[in-house]
Amino acid sequence: MNQPITSKINNKGHLEVGGCDLVGLAAEFGTPLYVIDETTVRSRCREYKTAFKNRYDNSQVIYACKALCNTAIVKIMNNEGLGLDVSSGGELYTAKKANCNLNSVYFHGNNKSKKELEEAVEWGAGRIVVDNFDELRNLDEITKKLGKKIDILFRINPGIEAHTHEFIQTGRIDSKFGISKEKAAEAAGLTRKMTYVNYLGLHAHIGSQIFEVSPYLAEIEILGRLADQIRTETGLKTEEIDIGGGLGIDYSGADEAPSIDSFAERTVSHFIKTCKEFKLNDPKLILEPGRSVIGTAGVTVYTIGMVKDIPGVRKYAAVDGGMSDNPRPILYDAKYDALLANRARETKKEKVTIAGRFCESGDKLIKDIELPEVKVGDILAVFGTGAYNYSMASNYNRVGRPAMVLVNNGIPTLILKRESYDDLILNDVVI
Ligand code: LLP
Repeated sequence: MNQPITSKINNKGHLEVGGCDLVGLAAEFGTPLYVIDETTVRSRCREYKTAFKNRYDNSQVIYACKALCNTAIVKIMNNEGLGLDVSSGGELYTAKKANCNLNSVYFHGNNKSKKELEEAVEWGAGRIVVDNFDELRNLDEITKKLGKKIDILFRINPGIEAHTHEFIQTGRIDSKFGISKEKAAEAAGLTRKMTYVNYLGLHAHIGSQIFEVSPYLAEIEILGRLADQIRTETGLKTEEIDIGGGLGIDYSGADEAPSIDSFAERTVSHFIKTCKEFKLNDPKLILEPGRSVIGTAGVTVYTIGMVKDIPGVRKYAAVDGGMSDNPRPILYDAKYDALLANRARETKKEKVTIAGRFCESGDKLIKDIELPEVKVGDILAVFGTGAYNYSMASNYNRVGRPAMVLVNNGIPTLILKRESYDDLILNDVVI
């Protein structure tokens, strides 16, 4: 399922999400428009929490803010009892301004600035996930200066990198992220001499849009073994094991992404087995999903502004957005699925390529999609755009980023304003 769970076709033949007619939303808020279905978001949060808590009580799900971060969204996550994975001062600041529980914040990043580290310590971020020895040294200095304690996890490079349908166990040692397995005990040992830096555990993240569960099992094994080694070599106890995010979602409508429940079943049982094997005393299990919480809750609504048939070659329909609101097709050749929201019941008649409006010939959102005969003025709804669309959006061609509405029970709530021309020149310094 690549659509929000509340998605349906109403009696006007229009697509509806969260009880709101997408054609009506387009008229009210303009296009392009990001639409987020609150029911889908909350139900994914609950699914994650229940699937893990029911199998292993000492577990915590933290939402990877990089997938989609704004005040309203992090508030929902906090309200659902999820912790937050932040990867910049900006994401941390958003969580702070949204009055989230900062004690459940895990601060990631391979090159956090001293300023960001200071802010994290000052504002009371729960954990810092230390990526490297330079950061550890900086954190030692900062906590001494501030006289404040901080709990840390070390990010480990497990030598595994996984993607959809594949995983590679060797050859991924070459990564800008994390400390090598060989150096983990040394890093943990250094904290023994630090007054304010407290070693709490290990973290790894093996990739994104992953469909296979087996690489996670290999990762759990590696982290469990390292925790054992750290205890033997330094006497330090590993109280938290964070296995990162990465669970894939269905973009096309036919991709077979594992369910949260089956993912939990396999990872938790392997986690328990690994903890027994290495005599670890029920450490906390942490997960950091981003895409699989928010991805399918999002739909982007566009207006078709031109249709161009190049006889014998291709038919193009251009939308009023594209690579600046969704850079994933041009960056990763990502595939999306869509419907005409204003004629949702009509039979598919032709193959078209949905082009964006930006000055780059690669700006194509969807290549060769089957749709009813597309006309200027049609409203196109693209599915699965909740994750890594707004968060990676740009102002290319000085086009403002779209507005975002949260929909629930027929009520749309504006949670991000559309960027105006004045917003675009806000930071220009007039000379
Ligand atoms: N934890 C860490 C440390 C991460 O680096 C990431 C994602 C996550 C958790 C969340 O992963 P997720 O559950 O969302 O897969 N821009 C790319 C995705 C980059 C993911 C980076 N890290 C895309 O659009 O596909």
